[in-house]
Formats: sequence, structure tokens, C-alpha cells
Amino acid sequence: MVIGSSGQIGSELVLALRKIYGDENVYATDIKYPPKEVGRSGPFQILDVLDFNNLLHFLVRYKITQVYNLAAVLSGNAEKIPLQAWDINMKALMNTLEAAHQSDAKKLFWPSSIAVFGPTTPRENTPQLTVMEPNTVYGISKVAGERWGEYYHHRYGVDFRSVRYPGLISYKTEPGGGTTDYAVEIFFSAVKQGSYECFLSEDTALPMMFMDDAIANTIRLMQYDDDKLSLRSAYNMAGISFTPEQLAQEIRKHIPEFKITYKPDFRQAIADSWPKSIDDSTARNDWGVKTEYDLEKMTTVMLEKVKEKLQ
Ligand code: SER
Repeated sequence: MVIGSSGQIGSELVLALRKIYGDENVYATDIKYPPKEVGRSGPFQILDVLDFNNLLHFLVRYKITQVYNLAAVLSGNAEKIPLQAWDINMKALMNTLEAAHQSDAKKLFWPSSIAVFGPTTPRENTPQLTVMEPNTVYGISKVAGERWGEYYHHRYGVDFRSVRYPGLISYKTEPGGGTTDYAVEIFFSAVKQGSYECFLSEDTALPMMFMDDAIANTIRLMQYDDDKLSLRSAYNMAGISFTPEQLAQEIRKHIPEFKITYKPDFRQAIADSWPKSIDDSTARNDWGVKTEYDLEKMTTVMLEKVKEKLQ
């Protein structure tokens, strides 16, 4: 079962899981209707993860064994509605943890984020174990979530697994309200109008990952042997690190007249508190995290796919 199947990650994860496990065996759920491909290829149901009784009923009724819970308010949006975002992000997680404990849906994936780090964290090659003092609502909810996931694993045997996603870049479903969203918007804007006004400054380096890599790694972690996982909070995942200016230069190799201007907004402060690059050696050693797309390959595919989509 995928919760949040209409979102940026969920809409692609559902299709990947259906290829592996069969269309009928992957239940897509969300509070809004999904993209056509998700709705047509297998079961979809409107379901609000904040409603605990309905969630538990769904897990039991459909004999769910694994849950991917992707429902969350992202970093930028969360700063606009702090208390509401905290309630939604934490309740969405706590409901799935408790429902996993009370049902047979014992295997649970929930994404953490580079947002767990804060201004006091070393920003280059950020280690797995380090200072974590996030100063955003989203980041605080992710640190708390990691702790609760580990707690439910040790205390109740819930098979909780998580990664700290870098910024995710995709063309099928756009993200909404994140700090790393510029790296998606830039492609649509480059293809549509040949220019982009970036809400982060030109030298803001952040770790990113192409969606295909994110999905492959997520499934890899979920399929890995239980006893080979040395930690039950969330694994660092490095991806590729670049600045808006480096991305713009890469885009110019395909669209030479592409222009970028910079007008940093409130998200600049969020980006400045996050790592520039990540050390994911623990994930590499434990379950073989991999990145197949570098900046060049990702840019080529993004431009090609965004062009197709806009036509
Ligand atoms: N990409 C997310 C955001 O920018 C971080 O997990 O909010």
C-alpha cells in the first residue's frame, strides 16, 4: 500500500512496485485523485491517513503487509502553517506506526530528509551520525519521526525503514512547496520560456537525486535482509550535489540561450541550514545504495522528458 500515491514520489513508486509485485497487489491511496497511469493500472482508493480507524480498517480488510507512507507537508509550505504542518506530518507517521503495530502491515517505509540537519551540522560530506538541530518545522518533524520509527522497531518489532532523501528531481509529478523544488521548476521554465528566476542564490549547493535513483534505492532498502540493516532510524543518501549556477550551465549545453536570474526568498535561509553534500557510506555498506544518474545524465533525461510532456 502506498499512502500519498498522487504526489511526486508516490505516483512513480506505485508504478515501479506494480511492475515487481503485480498491478492488483499494490494499493494506491491519497486524499486527492492520482495521475491517470496510477488510477488506471491498479486499485486506487481515497483515504485520509489522519483517520486512524479508517487506516487500520483498510490494512486489515485488504490484508496489507507493507506500507509506504509518503504523506507530508514539505519544508517551504510547512513554514507558512507551522502548527498545522506539525500536526499533519506527525499524525500521518504516528498513525501508520501504530496501525503497523496493531495489524499485519509490519513493514513500513517512511521518508526522512536532509532537512533533519540544521545550522550547527557540518555541511560538507555530512556524516550519518552528527549534530541534528534543524530549525524548520519540517526538519523537526523529520528528526522526531526518525526517533519514533526506531522506537516502534525496538519496542514493538515494526519493520521500520527510512532514508534521508536529498532534493528529488522528477518530471511526471511536480513537487509542491519544497526548498529543493527549484531544480524541477528550472527544467519546465527552460523548455517553456528559455529562462528561469531562481528563488535560491547561484552558489547554493544542495544534495539532489533523480527520481529513478530514489525509487530504485527505496525499493532496494525495503527488499534488503532484515538482519543486515545496522540502523533503524534513517540512512543518509548522497545523490549528487550541485548549485543552481552549475545546473544552469548544464542546461545551456542543450539550450545555449537559456538565462537564469536570482531572486532568493525565504527558502534561502532553509537551504543555508542544510548540507551541501552527504556521506552515505553507512547505506552503501549496509544495503548498497547507488546513484546511476550524474548531473549530465539527469539533465539530458529531464529536458527530453519535459519537452515530451509539454508537447
Ligand atoms: N525536498 C524537500 C524540501 O525541499 C526536503 O525533503 O522540502
